[in-house]
Amino acid sequence: MTSMTGSTAEPGARTNTIIHPLYVRITHWINAVAISLMAASGWEIYNASPLFGFTFPAAITLGGWLAGALLWHFAAMWLLVLNGLVYVTLAFLSGRFRRKLLPIRLGEVIHDVRAALTGRLGRENLAVYNAVQKLLYAGVLLAGVVIVASGLAMWKPVQLRELAALFGGYEGARLVHFFAMTAIVLFVIVHVVMALLVPSSLRAMIKGR
Ligand code: HEM
Repeated sequence: MTSMTGSTAEPGARTNTIIHPLYVRITHWINAVAISLMAASGWEIYNASPLFGFTFPAAITLGGWLAGALLWHFAAMWLLVLNGLVYVTLAFLSGRFRRKLLPIRLGEVIHDVRAALTGRLGRENLAVYNAVQKLLYAGVLLAGVVIVASGLAMWKPVQLRELAALFGGYEGARLVHFFAMTAIVLFVIVHVVMALLVPSSLRAMIKGR
């Protein structure tokens, strides 16, 4: 039986069963590397022509200058997209998305946010995500689709004019790309803090159990 907090008596809770299959672990860690390279090179590209009144510190950018950063960004793009396609295809075909990320119910999200804020949100069963995790994981996957689509629209605005038009043209795609990056970076900060607070979840994403 599944409770609102995701604490269940499902098999695999405290046993030696696999929580994250090998393909999830491999694609997850490749994705973490690809996202870091994309963000750091993206910030260098942004610095060459800032959208807003600030630039990113050189210490956290990659590429050294605009042309170098573009090379990194396009190389890491292939890693991000191909790896993402492998994960999404396998997770969809194996029913992982349906099993682990759905359904997402507003009432459960509100309940679990309240529980988290008052320190009552347990992770007794690492095999089951709570409603906040489901929402955040589904949200970051969606942000991944948006950031890739808006990036493609800026890369080939003529060949992919219909896609670019969806974002209101090149400038619109640039804004959407920036805000999707911000959402992903904020997600990663919260996500890494949570992983460090629950080391057994980190172990499971490395060893699978
Ligand atoms: C060094 C950085 C990262 C660490 C330490 C980390 C750690 C983890 C851990 C421990 C889990 C399992 C959560 C649990 O069972 O409670 C997880 C799952 C997940 N992480 Fe990360 N992560 C990192 C980077 C990222 C990045 C960059 C993304 C995407 C932008 C991401 C997206 C996800 C998603 C979508 C899941 C759920 C996967 C599934 O169950 O199919 N992670 N991460």
